[in-house]
Amino acid sequence: MIKRPRGTRDFFKDDLTHYQFLEDTLKKILLDFNFQEIRTPLLENEELFCRSVGTDTDVVRKEMYQFIDKKGRKLVLRPEGTAAIVRAIIENKWYLPENLPLKLYYLGPMFRYERPQVGRYRQFDQLGVEIYGEENIYQNLELITLIKRIVDVFDLMNFVQLEVNFLVNGKQRQDYLNVLSKELAKKCNLCEDCNRRMKENPLRVLDCKVDQSQFADLPLMSEFFSLEEKGEWNQFLKGLDEIEIPWKWNPNLVRGLDYYTGLVFELKFLQQTLGSQTTLLAGGRYNELMKNLEGPQLPAIGFALGLDRFLLVLESLNYSFPRPKNPVLLTVPLTDKAALWNLNLLQDLRNNHLKVETDMTLKGLKHAFKVAQKTKAHYLLILGDKEMKDHQGQLKNQISGETIILPLTEIKQFLMNIKE
Ligand code: HAM
Repeated sequence: MIKRPRGTRDFFKDDLTHYQFLEDTLKKILLDFNFQEIRTPLLENEELFCRSVGTDTDVVRKEMYQFIDKKGRKLVLRPEGTAAIVRAIIENKWYLPENLPLKLYYLGPMFRYERPQVGRYRQFDQLGVEIYGEENIYQNLELITLIKRIVDVFDLMNFVQLEVNFLVNGKQRQDYLNVLSKELAKKCNLCEDCNRRMKENPLRVLDCKVDQSQFADLPLMSEFFSLEEKGEWNQFLKGLDEIEIPWKWNPNLVRGLDYYTGLVFELKFLQQTLGSQTTLLAGGRYNELMKNLEGPQLPAIGFALGLDRFLLVLESLNYSFPRPKNPVLLTVPLTDKAALWNLNLLQDLRNNHLKVETDMTLKGLKHAFKVAQKTKAHYLLILGDKEMKDHQGQLKNQISGETIILPLTEIKQFLMNIKE
């Protein structure tokens, strides 16, 4: 038997309807916040992620699905969305002032060659949100209100916490990195990856997945905040209290991607059901990325939510997903004449947006009742010789057991009235 590739999933029935509900609900929230959808290719040039996410990150070093196409181009299946959106904005010149601020969202599959486990897959879906062209504390806070809205809509307030941090910039960052490198050099138990990162990109060491406890005594980045940064950070934290989202300052939060330049955050699920994969969404500010990819200097902030993880959380909390509606009618013709007439009836009902099912196997009454049980339609209409001759039929209410006799020409109106 041929199996699906490791770390991928098939969606059907409840898995799929829950997924669609999540997708639709998130899209409605984004429309209220006036975001526009953007779609970019699943394939991108490898160089895009090397120059944005960073060559020292796990995503680029170990996790990209890379291949060379027939013309020798190095392509990858996109591991994340942000770099691709920035590429699209530059390439299509969507950065022109008349388009700003650009408030974009995307929803679709990302690919990372990670070790699969609960909540971690090799193909997974992200809902990403990005805003370009503005920078102030209140815009940062407005984005947090979007996260709060998502948390509220899905009743997750008691189960999550927003971890936040601020990555210093410019000279302060350089000063901090110098001190950090010196302190890291004194540690002899760093893992192989950290030993390499210490020299090439010391900030990445703080993202180590092997042992975080050994970093507890390192100097904090907050000690290197400029006066202005300190003031803004305190104001931002005050704003978080105002928004009433549960939050915590995690001074070692640096995120696993290199493009962040200021505020970074992760929304954590606080229960154990997801194992170690507790981050439901994550993001931050990345004001330099557009310029680094040869576009204009355009401030940017965003986050991405992992739909697969989010669904696991909702299911683990027994979230009551709406059930898909059953058909309002099942028709079962028993003769050729009735089957032909039935085709027109179905057409008419469906043209009026009624959800109807039919069984035209002409296998007789016993079979009709079996199908009716399986289909769970509200009403059953069996069409035999008698019904065709008398031009009337029995509509059996499958829920109450009642039967109504109606002229065939009135069936549509009867069902339309129920729909209303
Ligand atoms: P990220 O932290 O790499 O950020 O991923 C964001 C979210 O995607 C994670 O918090 C998680 O929910 C989900 N996720 C990541 N990897 C997997 C996986 N292997 N299986 C299942 N879910 C996963 C980014 O991708 C940035 N582009 C976010 C961003 C947008 N920053 C600014 N704008």
